[in-house]
Amino acid sequence: MDSIAGRTALVTGAARGIGQAIAEFLHEAGARVIAVDRDEQALRYSFGGGSVVTLCADLSGPNPGELAADIWRDHGPIELLVNNVGISTEDGFLELGESDFDLVFNTNLRGPWFLTKEIVRRLLAEERHGSIVFVSSLHDTRVRRRPHYSASKAGVAALVRELAHELAPHGIRVNAVSPGIVRTNHNPIDGPEVDAYVKRVVPMRRVGEPPDVAKVVAALLSEEWAGYVTGANVPVDGGLALHTWVGPQAAPLERHPGLLGRARRLAQRQRNGR
Ligand SMILES: NC(=O)c1ccc[n+]([C@@H]2O[C@H](COP(=O)([O-])OP(=O)(O)OC[C@H]3O[C@@H](n4cnc5c(N)ncnc54)[C@H](O)[C@@H]3O)[C@@H](O)[C@H]2O)c1
Repeated sequence: MDSIAGRTALVTGAARGIGQAIAEFLHEAGARVIAVDRDEQALRYSFGGGSVVTLCADLSGPNPGELAADIWRDHGPIELLVNNVGISTEDGFLELGESDFDLVFNTNLRGPWFLTKEIVRRLLAEERHGSIVFVSSLHDTRVRRRPHYSASKAGVAALVRELAHELAPHGIRVNAVSPGIVRTNHNPIDGPEVDAYVKRVVPMRRVGEPPDVAKVVAALLSEEWAGYVTGANVPVDGGLALHTWVGPQAAPLERHPGLLGRARRLAQRQRNGR
């Protein structure tokens, strides 16, 4: 991908999970990748000894704009930005305290907001084109019973639309991906019960893996593949968002025997020339 190779890509929350897969994929595509995470040990474990630049920083901190300015000064212009970082706590509306509310909103919305602001300001000042992808969630529009998480991601989705509109005339595209159920630390999926649940609710009958998301992020970043796409929010969820069968009453997502029979009869008729 010509628009990725040789460019500098900043990926947040990159030490593990979806962020790590994105950083690795962009690195393989020839980008100069800067992987930012608050977990130094995990960064070392994932990228130690390689040519991905690692940077230990807390994106929920008070000055994400300063962090962006430091990175630009030390590593040059950031033309590809992936705001992947995102967390939740397991509280419902009544349990959630103010400090956890602040932590989730600072990590999921405030940090990416001001980091992006500083990078966009510099891209505009230097009249550079850029491409930005936010990792949102299926829950930016759907219920998860973690209202602070869903509300923070709804904020991300709204920010993507606003920025895409404002920045399109300046050659900066802004898009989002919304993962469904992806196997990571954030969402450790294991065991026969979960497996059965996934088969019931995910039309593609499997969970997502981090590279499933990374490849879509890379496609959206690239001019060749998505040069006319901005303001999109692409579900990467195996079809989960297509229906409302999330719950114990969910109808089984079996392969449809009637459908297979009809397809075979049609194929037979075609072979017989009818
Ligand atoms: N895994 C899923 O099923 C799923 C589904 C929908 C959306 N998402 C979104 O995808 C993104 C990545 O999720 P994941 O599942 O890979 O998460 P993960 O927990 O596996 O990894 C998140 C990474 O972010 C880092 N991080 C957390 N807070 C940070 C901070 N303040 N500063 C710097 N680094 C920080 C962590 O150290 C970790 O390395 C998130 O935005 C999440 O909301 C994930």
